[in-house]
Formats: sequence, C-alpha cells, structure tokens
Amino acid sequence: MKFKKKILGIGAGYVGAPSMVMIASKCPDYKVTVVDINPERIAAWNSDRLPVYEPGLDAIVRKTRGRNLFFSTDVEAQIQENDIIFVCVNTPTKTFGAGAGMAADLQYWEKTARQILENSKTSKIVIEKSTLPIKTAQAMERILSSGKKNVTFDVLSNPEFMAEGTAVNDLENPDRVLIGSRETKSGLAARAALVEIYTRWLPREKIITSNIWSAELSKLVANAFLAQRVSSINSISALCEKADADISEVAHAVGTDSRIGAKFLKAGIGFGGSCFKKDILNLVYLCRFYGLPEVAAYWESVVRINEYQQDRFIANILRSMFNTLAGKKICVLGFAFKADTGDTRESPAIHITRKLLAEHAEVVISDPQALANAAADLAHEKGKISYVEDPYRAAAGCHALAVMTDWEAYRKLDYRKIYKSMVKPAFLFDGRNIVDHRKCFEIGFNVFPIGKPALTRF
Ligand code: UDX
Ligand code: ADP
Repeated sequence: MKFKKKILGIGAGYVGAPSMVMIASKCPDYKVTVVDINPERIAAWNSDRLPVYEPGLDAIVRKTRGRNLFFSTDVEAQIQENDIIFVCVNTPTKTFGAGAGMAADLQYWEKTARQILENSKTSKIVIEKSTLPIKTAQAMERILSSGKKNVTFDVLSNPEFMAEGTAVNDLENPDRVLIGSRETKSGLAARAALVEIYTRWLPREKIITSNIWSAELSKLVANAFLAQRVSSINSISALCEKADADISEVAHAVGTDSRIGAKFLKAGIGFGGSCFKKDILNLVYLCRFYGLPEVAAYWESVVRINEYQQDRFIANILRSMFNTLAGKKICVLGFAFKADTGDTRESPAIHITRKLLAEHAEVVISDPQALANAAADLAHEKGKISYVEDPYRAAAGCHALAVMTDWEAYRKLDYRKIYKSMVKPAFLFDGRNIVDHRKCFEIGFNVFPIGKPALTRF
C-alpha cells in the first residue's frame, strides 16, 4: 500500500508510543513507525503484553499494528525513511555536574539530534514532544544546521499534555494541542503540516499555534500550575488536621467557585509521576539562570510542600503506632504514582516505603499493575519487603494498612474481612481519602485520613 505520509516517533515510552498509536489510529493512510534503542521495549510493543499499562491502548494497538503502525529498533534507517520525526526520548533530571538535581539531562535528546543529522538525506520536520527546557529547540536547530547545506530541518515544539491512566481519552479529546514554530516561511509551512495531521480528528479551534519558545514554556508552566494546586490543597490538609476542619468539604466549597474550578483539588500523599517534579525543578533552574531568585523560590516551594506532605504522612504513622514500627508489618496498598497505571516514577510510595524500612518495619507491597516496577525501585533497599498482588493476602497478619494509590478497587475491598485477618489494634492510614472512613472505624480500625480528624479508640 502507498501511504500518504510517513511519520516517525523516536522513543517508545509512556509519551511517545501512545501519541504515535493515536496518530496511526486516526490516520490509516499514514505510515507511523516508532523506534527505540531498547530492544526489549520494542519486542514488548510487538507482543501481546505491552510494556505500559494504559486502559484502552491494547485495543488500538491491536487494530493498527502491522497495518500502518510499526515498532522497530532500526533508528538510523527509519530516520532516513521518514520526513516527519517526533522526538519523544526521555529527559530526566540531571544527576551529575552543573544543575544536578534541577536541570534536564539532555544527553538522550542530543544524541537523537546528532543521529537525525547524520542519517538525513532529505529535509525533515523535527518535532519536540518530550518536555524540555525552553530554548532546547534552538539548540536542536544549531546541531541540525551544522551539517550538509542541501538538507534543511524545521524544528517545531508540540508538547504533550496527556496524563497517564487517561492517555487514550486525552489524546483523542485533548483540551488543546499546542504547536510552536519559527515564524519564518519554512517554519510556518512546517507548522501547517503538523496542523494538518491533528485536524484529521480535531477541530481547528483546538489547535493553538504560537512561537516556539512560548510553546516550550507553556508545557512547563501548565505542569507547574497543576502541581501547585495539589501542593496548595495538601498544605491546607495539614491545617485541617489541626483545626478539625474537613479537607473534602473545604475543597468542595472552594472548587465550586467557577473561577477556581473543582479539578486537581484532591488532598493526598503528594504528587508523583515523571513530570511534575522534573518540570518544576526545570522551571526553577531557568528562573535562577535568568537571575530571578524570587520566582525560583516561589515555584520551588511547590516541591517542598510535596516532600513535607510525604514526611507528615510517615510521622503520623510512627506517632500513631506508639512511636515504634520495628518488627511491625505494614501493608502498602498501591505503589503506582496514581491509579490506572503501572508507572512508579517519583511515586510517593517509594519515599514512604524507604522511611518505613528505615524504622525497621516489615513492608508488604500490593498493587494490581506496578509490582514489577516496585521491585525494581526497591531492589537495593535493605530490610524485609514482600510483593503480593492480592490485597487480602497482602494485608493478612499486618498491623497497619497504608493506602498510597487511588485504585478504584481499593474503595470496594471487604474491609471487614481484612480487619479480621490483621493484628489488633489495626490501623488504616488512608493516603488518598478513598476508603469509607466511618465504616472502617465501625468495623474496628483506627482510621487516619488526610486532612480530616482521625477516628480512633485511644
Ligand atoms: C501530568 C499532567 O497532568 C499532564 O498534562 C502532563 O502531560 C504530564 O504530567 P500525570 O503525571 O500522568 O500527568 O498525572 P496527573 O493526573 O497529572 O497526576 C499527577 C500526580 O498528582 C499524581 O501522583 C496524582 O495522584 C496527583 N494528584 C492529582 C493529586 O494528588 N491530587 C489531585 O487532585 C490530582
Ligand atoms: P517518557 O515518559 O518521557 O515517554 P520513557 O522513559 O518512558 O519516558 O521513554 C523514553 C524512551 O526513549 C525510552 O524507551 C528510551 O529507551 C528511548 N530513547 C532514549 N534515547 C533514545 C535514542 N537516542 N533513540 C531512540 N530511543 C531512545
């Protein structure tokens, strides 16, 4: 079959693969290829067990794979073959050198830029999809323009706003798509080519076009604003616990103001995921770099509150369980950073489990999708850890339950059955406020929600 367009995605991770899968699904006359340097990842995308758990994604992959969607490890050949390239490689926070712990580590991204340069025999449109510090497109342009004169590259920024767990719906019905480009003749033509792809399934009004720096910065700012809402409500949850107010009632009362809005006001053990912390620290680094220490400090406090919230949760467990956890068995219910994903990157559960182990508690971890990632995250920890998928078996014989992930299934567990199997007095620390607290208290638990009075018998 002759395809109308050929599109390449470099990086088959949580962002790259679902984004490319959606394009393949919506544009059956385009050939979409996804490449990755990791052969196991590509093998998994070509198998019946996809490497990421994302509701609804399997069905779309089954429909498109082999038809107009292909997964390959041959990065170089695919660069030659395709004229529209989405770069979706990972950009973690730097762990070494200048900006360590703050700035983005651009080594994978730079390697990709050089690979594109070396393997391009025709002109290309190169689209940044990974979240990157602003002016990265400029650096990419510089690398790409250092080569042969007869091949040109237009670099666009098209940040991805989908969230894990709801990726399919977010990609199918996004609030908006953002495309940044140079405002030159060829930049505008490249922008139009990308707009054409998205208008295959989205109305034109949903596509925002801007200059390239605004697009790059908007992604960081959107994530910073979302994370700030979580930290804001979490900071108030601490006050609620002292002042006998109820954070759910406060969030409802505040969120019904249409200027504020109801979303992203759920108090919990803090935000996780690969984006929020990384993007805020990136923003903080940029502000410092540009001589804006007050602005940097303002955004940095969003991360500080997130850490405070996790430390507060642990301190509460310790205090409530008579200041000693040594030898006690704690069931961690949920390890993913949010429901409906197996992803554990920056999951609050990692930090909290480490602290439990530091107190010499024995930790039993349960999660419907994230146990393999949890085991990898905790591989070097000393102490007693076990992994049990079934929550009833995981909780049996434990002194406490600590709910870390808002899996729907955890709302519906038979807490009476669980209570019976636990050591008494039994404790329930609900880090996501998803359990029926009153009912669990009546069953016999000592219940510690977030931002609400504890229900205890002491
Ligand atoms: C986020 C952005 O939402 C998305 O637009 C961007 O593309 C990537 O980063 P993601 O990290 O996948 O997506 O999930 P999100 O739903 O934003 O949740 C992030 C964290 O905040 C999770 O740990 C979640 O549990 C927590 N959260 C979210 C809360 O604690 N309370 C809330 O009210 C909302
Ligand atoms: P994200 O959440 O941003 O998608 P992931 O780590 O899930 O991050 O995915 C990024 C993917 O990019 C990984 O599978 C990694 O192997 C891949 N990758 C990194 N560098 C390159 C490269 N130079 N060429 C192709 N793939 C790459």
